[in-house]
Parts: sequence; structure tokens; C-alpha cells
Amino acid sequence: MDDRMSDQTSTCRLGVRVTPRRPGFDFEGLEHELPRAWHPAGIGPTAFLEALSAMAPVVEGFFIDDARRLLPRIAAEAPRAEVEAFLRQEAAHAGMHAAFNRLLIRWGVPVDASADSVLRWLAVVDWTSSDLRSAVAMAGEHFLGEIGNAILSRPELLAGVDPRIARLFRWHGYEEVEHKAVLFDAFHAARGHGLYTYAVRVAGLWIALVLLALALPAVSCRILASAGAAQDLRAWRGLIRFVFGRGGMLRGGWRAVAAYHRRDFHPWRYLDNRRFLSELRDTIVDPAWEGRARRAAAGAAGDDSHGTQPDHPVDNSSGRK
Ligand SMILES: [Fe+2]
Ligand SMILES: [Fe+2]
Repeated sequence: MDDRMSDQTSTCRLGVRVTPRRPGFDFEGLEHELPRAWHPAGIGPTAFLEALSAMAPVVEGFFIDDARRLLPRIAAEAPRAEVEAFLRQEAAHAGMHAAFNRLLIRWGVPVDASADSVLRWLAVVDWTSSDLRSAVAMAGEHFLGEIGNAILSRPELLAGVDPRIARLFRWHGYEEVEHKAVLFDAFHAARGHGLYTYAVRVAGLWIALVLLALALPAVSCRILASAGAAQDLRAWRGLIRFVFGRGGMLRGGWRAVAAYHRRDFHPWRYLDNRRFLSELRDTIVDPAWEGRARRAAAGAAGDDSHGTQPDHPVDNSSGRK
């Protein structure tokens, strides 16, 4: 595994570079400008996207912990550098969603309670072996890669959303696709490709699936309740259509679940969607964000000789302990 070929990661072999960016979005005052149901399809889709954001800092923290645990077990230089870029991307996601979540709190969304409930679910995983915990994180990245792909390939999902909000989800979706194979490759670099690894990977998928199936509706329901729409059938219908309807966010997600069971599954082999990264780069990401991330990393390297400090500290204001 230490020859020159294996030092190339699957992502860079495809010409994709995991690039840390630091956008610095600002959501101050949006609560006075935008309607509470800021998605044109109503409070249902609004609540679903807000649920993703409310959960993001906690879930990103879970991935970051996992990647940090894997890092010492990876010897080759290129995969190590890619995991470090992954860490900085996920930390930036956590930071920007925390900023958006502060807007949600001003709207009365119970962000902290939602994050606490997700933390309690994830605590169950913390009691399992570190292999299984990693497998849950890896499966979570597979699902987020699917959500990222939906956001990039179905622009209508965010059509009509205020651009200051839409760009948060588009940037996050873009980077989830960009780094979708990083935890997968790191997990296998650390643990090999045997039957045990396969069994743990599939077990992690099902645990992640159950956690997602419990947490997403529960947090969405809390948010709908905070907006006085928990009993509103139209709101729920709008949410379900947005998620599972034609062109919906998770439409066809069963294919991603089924494919993950293949022994030879790999995120890029399953879905080579890198064309979205090149086609949408100019509309979704700004080169200035890379410069800001580089300056932040240079500053962090002064404080931390390991150079793995995140650009944004993982914001714990949403209840993460
Ligand atoms: Fe992320
Ligand atoms: Fe991710």
C-alpha cells in the first residue's frame, strides 16, 4: 500500500482536488428581510433545510473526530494531505452552518434542543467499537454526498430561495461531492479491504440509516412546531414532496443504499459526478474563499505545528459538548 500508485488518492486520480475554502457568509438581519417560510414551496421545505443546518455542526463534529482518529493510521502523504483538507472543509461547514443557525435562533427555531437530541443519538454510536463508529461516519458521508449531488444536479430544489441562503447549501453540497471519497479511502487505508471491513461498513450503513430516519423527521417536526405548523398537513405534504417527490432531495436514495452493499463499492465508481464540480465551479465557489482559507491555515500553523487546526473552530453553541 506504500508504493507510489497507492499514494495517489482516488479523488486526485480523477482530477478532483479537495480544496479548503472559507466563504465568510453573513446572515445578519435576514430575519427582518425574509419571510419565515423562506423557501418558495413553503414552511415544509424550509423546515427540512433548517433541520439539515441545525444538525450540521454536531454531525460535522462527528466526522471531524473520526477523521482525526484515522489520520495517525495513514502513512502515505497524499491521503494524509487529503484528510487534512477534508478536516478544514468540514470545520468550515460547521462554522458557516452555526452562523446560519444563529439566524434560525432569531426566528425562534429550537436549534440547541435539536442539536442536543442529535448528540444523544450519536452518543449511542460512541459506545460501539471505533471501527463501527468510523463506519457510521463513512456512511454518513455517503448520504451527504448524495444530498450534495441532489443539490448540484437539481438546481430547482433551491430555485427562488434568497441567494444569501441558497449559496450556503450549494457551497456545502459542492464540497460534499468534492470530498465524498475521503473518509471512505481513509477508512480502507487504515483497516484494509477484508471481509471484516466489509461487514463493518455495511453495519455502519444501517446504523447511519436508522439514525437519519429518526433524527431528520424529529428535528423537522420540532422546527415546524416552532413555526406553529406541526399540525399543518399542507406543510408536511410540502416537506414530503420536497424530499421524496419527483426531483426531490432524497428521491432515488434507495439506489445509494443498495449500491453501498456491493463488495466493490467506491463512492466515485458508484457515481462519477465530477462534471458538476467543473461545470458549477464558477457559479458556486469563489476563488477568494481559497485565499482566505490559506491565510487562516497559515495563521493556525503558527499556533499548531501539526497544521490540522480547523479554519473555524467547530461551533459548540448548538449544544455540542
Ligand atoms: Fe460537510
Ligand atoms: Fe462531508
